[in-house]
Amino acid sequence: MKTTSLKFAGLLCLTFALAAPAFADISSMMKESMKGETSLYKKVATGKGSDDDAQKLLAYVKTLPAESPEKGDAASWKEKTDKLVKATEDVAAKKPGALQELQTAGNCKACHSVHKG
Ligand code: HEC
Repeated sequence: MKTTSLKFAGLLCLTFALAAPAFADISSMMKESMKGETSLYKKVATGKGSDDDAQKLLAYVKTLPAESPEKGDAASWKEKTDKLVKATEDVAAKKPGALQELQTAGNCKACHSVHKG
């Protein structure tokens, strides 16, 4: 009985690991988490998101640094996406000033003007 429940717990962990987001591209990540007034990003960046929302957004933004946008250079992309990850981590950790940090790092136009084709 004990082994069965352990196995079940292991299976659950595996399921959660597999549930981690793997987006086909930047575009899908944007549509899933950034787009719109009620997006996951908006909720978290305005302090209206739950702890779970912050964790979910964190998992999402973490997929970005490994992507390569069609436009702009790699160093700039890395800097911007690293900042976005750091800011989301700070919000998840409830650091003071983190919401402001996330709003700056997540500025749509600032990134799109350089990296969106
Ligand atoms: C760190 C950079 C970065 C930030 C910040 C960012 N974006 Fe994007 N976004 C991109 C890139 C790059 C693309 C182009 C992806 C492609 O087409 O390959 C994109 C594409 C999009 C698209 C088009 C998706 C599609 O194909 O239909 C939407 C919508 C979008 N972003 C919304 C937003 C919104 C809203 C925000 C701000 C709340 C935001 N993004 C912030 C980098 C960023």
